[in-house]
Amino acid sequence: MMWRAFAPLARLLPAEAAHWAAVQTLRLNIGPKPDVPSMPLTVAGIRFDNPLGLAAGFDKNAECFSGATRLGFGHVEIGTVTPLPQPGNPRPRVFRLPVDQGVINRYGFNGNGMEHAARNLAAVNQRPAVLGVNVGANKTSADPIEDYHVAVARLATFADYVTLNISSPNTPGLRDLQADQLLQHVLLAGRSGLADSGKKIPLFLKMAPDLQTTEIRKIIACCVDHNVDGIIATNTTVARPEELSSPDADERGGLSGAPLFAMSTAILAEVAALAKGQLAVIGVGGVASGWQAYAKLLVGADLVQLYTGLAFNGLDLPASILSEMKLFMEFDGYGDVASASGQIPDAREAISHAFHLAQSAGLQVADPKLYW
Ligand SMILES: Cc1cc2nc3c(=O)[nH]c(=O)nc-3n(C[C@H](O)[C@H](O)[C@H](O)COP(=O)(O)O)c2cc1C
Repeated sequence: MMWRAFAPLARLLPAEAAHWAAVQTLRLNIGPKPDVPSMPLTVAGIRFDNPLGLAAGFDKNAECFSGATRLGFGHVEIGTVTPLPQPGNPRPRVFRLPVDQGVINRYGFNGNGMEHAARNLAAVNQRPAVLGVNVGANKTSADPIEDYHVAVARLATFADYVTLNISSPNTPGLRDLQADQLLQHVLLAGRSGLADSGKKIPLFLKMAPDLQTTEIRKIIACCVDHNVDGIIATNTTVARPEELSSPDADERGGLSGAPLFAMSTAILAEVAALAKGQLAVIGVGGVASGWQAYAKLLVGADLVQLYTGLAFNGLDLPASILSEMKLFMEFDGYGDVASASGQIPDAREAISHAFHLAQSAGLQVADPKLYW
């Protein structure tokens, strides 16, 4: 309840200031802990209390891990952290699309660098949730692939898993690392970073939604060949659905939130069809309610993450999503998350099924605008 007041207050601030205020609020690590249903599961050898996580980009400098876990998340992914501090792009660089319930950001990996993140992570003394560390390359790096090695080697010691982010649209050239040859080198860099850290933890790769099926196939094959443990699908999109009607819809950057939901779920479904059983699959993009998170599970996600939904719905969103997911699983007769995962591999069917469940459960759900 207390957290519900946060979103309307934060909306009075410009988007980046609201983000800063949310991080500072969670840094205080106070406030009631919501009751969240127990939904334990094991993914990539890690035990999670529940399948919902905070996506990367919210806690870029690892400042509020403990506070974020108070919201009920089963995991929190900090970062993206780059080896060196960097300012990111000039402001303004984050834009709310209120009518469309989306956000466009072109932060450009602004952050204090890995030494600062390491100090913050070293100070975390309790681990009520799984901690993921997401790393990327500096904008002006002479050797971006080496940046992945360096950042993983430095930060893996604090992490339960590490994510290589090669899918931000806001660092020139970064998404080119998704191409076959370069991808191999990024994955080898991540692996050797892990070896240098001496820590045996899972390695995840985060991919863009703006990919063709042939490219997705190559990425999955490369990940399987290089013993990657999981794929996070997806990052923000550079696409702009024609139907967007907010004034800032043409700003440059990555689009997230409601307009990304169907598109990223369709990519997730493709990824799951190719990777299920070989790689863990983490679904992210446009989740702002229990039925949307459930749809991601149905197409094959093992875990689900969100970020933009918090900005529009407030900080008690994770707890309500988890209660609704549990309700839908019971409705469909699934005793645990793993049994629900992958039961409706077609994205349109899964979305329609989950939406109708929410309606039959009497939840107030608006007809979703779906952009494919
Ligand atoms: C303001 C903002 C900053 C983000 N920064 C990062 C980042 O640093 N690293 C990353 O991997 N993803 C980043 N993301 C992408 C999110 O983690 C997520 O993949 C994407 O927003 C889709 O999920 P959502 O619709 O629930 O926000 C960012 C997203 C937003 C909105």
